[in-house]
Amino acid sequence: MEDKIYIFDTTLRDGEQAPGIHLNVREKTEIAEQLSRLNVDIIEAGFPVSSASDFESVREISRKIKDRRIAALCRANDGDIEIAGEALKEAANPVIHTFISSSDIHLKYQFKMTRQKALEMAGQAVKKSRQYTDTVEFSAMDATRSDWDFLCRMFEEAIKQGASIINIPDTVGYALPEEFSRLIDYVFTNVDGIEDVVVSVHCHNDLGLAVANSLMAAAHGARQIECAVNGIGERAGNASLEEIAMIINTRGKEMGIRTDIRTEEIIRTSNLVKSLTGYLIAPNKAIVGKNAFAHESGIHQDGMLKERSTYEIIKPQDIGLGDSRLILGKHSGRHAFVEKVNEMGLKLKEEDLESAFERFKNLAEKKGAINDDDLRAIVTDKIREVKEHYVLKNYEVYSGSCIKARSTVCIIADKKEKEASAEGDGPIDASFKAIDKVTGIDTVLVDYNIEAVSAGKDAIGQVKIIVSAEENEVMGSGISTDIVEASIKAYIDGANRLKSIIQDHKQRGYIN
Ligand code: KIV
Ligand code: ZN
Repeated sequence: MEDKIYIFDTTLRDGEQAPGIHLNVREKTEIAEQLSRLNVDIIEAGFPVSSASDFESVREISRKIKDRRIAALCRANDGDIEIAGEALKEAANPVIHTFISSSDIHLKYQFKMTRQKALEMAGQAVKKSRQYTDTVEFSAMDATRSDWDFLCRMFEEAIKQGASIINIPDTVGYALPEEFSRLIDYVFTNVDGIEDVVVSVHCHNDLGLAVANSLMAAAHGARQIECAVNGIGERAGNASLEEIAMIINTRGKEMGIRTDIRTEEIIRTSNLVKSLTGYLIAPNKAIVGKNAFAHESGIHQDGMLKERSTYEIIKPQDIGLGDSRLILGKHSGRHAFVEKVNEMGLKLKEEDLESAFERFKNLAEKKGAINDDDLRAIVTDKIREVKEHYVLKNYEVYSGSCIKARSTVCIIADKKEKEASAEGDGPIDASFKAIDKVTGIDTVLVDYNIEAVSAGKDAIGQVKIIVSAEENEVMGSGISTDIVEASIKAYIDGANRLKSIIQDHKQRGYIN
């Protein structure tokens, strides 16, 4: 029988730390519910002290998801730990994940702290965390660039004070697989009490080795792997959950390990995370890239037609691809729509169902057949909806090769219609300037992306933008078969999110 590898998902914490990702409470909860269907063992729901929204997300996920362990991150100090404990109060199986750096590089240059002080703080943090839960994970940040003996002393102290999970992060993605496996062996032979705890690893992908390093660690006795859906996370990201799960699913017997991941939920989870974070996936990305199962060369296609196993090591159905039963069109009714949304693993609140159905009907009228990608875009756009300070009423654009583009946008704000016009470098730029005039928010466009969610000239265009104002950065998204309209909707979505954050900061007295 293979040994179980615990999957600790950090999509909502480390994943959300990736530049440009900003999930609100509802979006995080949707992802957490899907992670539960995927059957991960632990959901790291956030870093409660870092923001009001992170605190709220951990609290909401703890309330809603009772069949998983819910973890919250905190630095090794009393304040952070108390706030994490409070956020996890309603969790059925709470995990406090506390961390401090162990490398001299971090201690000397960043924290200006001695090794002795860090060691004491690690022990105190674990002891304090145990006041809130029996399951405490301790991480030694930058473990792979630390002095190995000092690292072992720190782990020993954490275990002595009651940690039951010891995490070895490769924080900057520096380790080589063979070197990392030696470090795991070293920890197993040099830390008193290590046999009584779960050894975990948390690898970053700066050198593209996060998955390889995680698996090497598992081959050397680590029994928990920390990873994120689509590999999102700080900088180059974390080890990708779907790669870890499918490697173990495909080759786990030889390695003597298994996971409890329901692999047929992988593509749904990946799509949901992609839509809500706005992080696109490279077409050649292993497992979830759109070409991961596409065979282009004649020789490969010939082999596939004769016998799939010639060039296919994973069946697309194993990750939940191509198992769709229902096709929707303009004659489909509400019942079929709901059935299909559920079949795709998407969930809509009762109050959102009607407007999503209406959008579906409008689109079906224009396009005829509605495929899964169109539907996913409609539904996730609904899930992403935030408080509507501004609602688009209508717009008009003039543009061409010989005239200066001009846009007039009419928006409902505070129940009043407000209209503004502007000229710009093309109809989209002109529209964004007109919207700024209405909202009065001094917005900077940081990034703009457009993608056709499905094939064909009448495909839905999904625009994702990143905008910032007053040092807050948010992602806005909009869909339409018209790219100017999709862009305007994305910009207004961004403005709504910024307005909510600015209002929240005003209420808390952070700004005037
Ligand atoms: O990369 C890292 O070291 C982390 C820790 C907080 C576990 O994310
Ligand atoms: Zn990390």
